[in-house]
Amino acid sequence: MSDQPIAADDKPMAMALQAGKEYYWCACGKSGGQPFCDGSHRDTSITPLPFKAKGGEAHICMCRKTNNPPYCDGSHAQ
Ligand code: FES
Repeated sequence: MSDQPIAADDKPMAMALQAGKEYYWCACGKSGGQPFCDGSHRDTSITPLPFKAKGGEAHICMCRKTNNPPYCDGSHAQ
């Protein structure tokens, strides 16, 4: 059982999000439907992060090192 998130990629994913829609960011990094939760965290103590999108293009963290989840804060480059 791993409780450490893994990187799904070493750069953020740019994508258009629907304003007001609730999404579940994959916090564990194991989802097959990145960057969103698909239930693959079930063998960890990690749970997805629900968030409401503001709309427009967002850069979603894929390295799981961000201090501003689910959004990229540049931590992947450090
Ligand atoms: S699959 Fe990663 S948090 Fe659910």
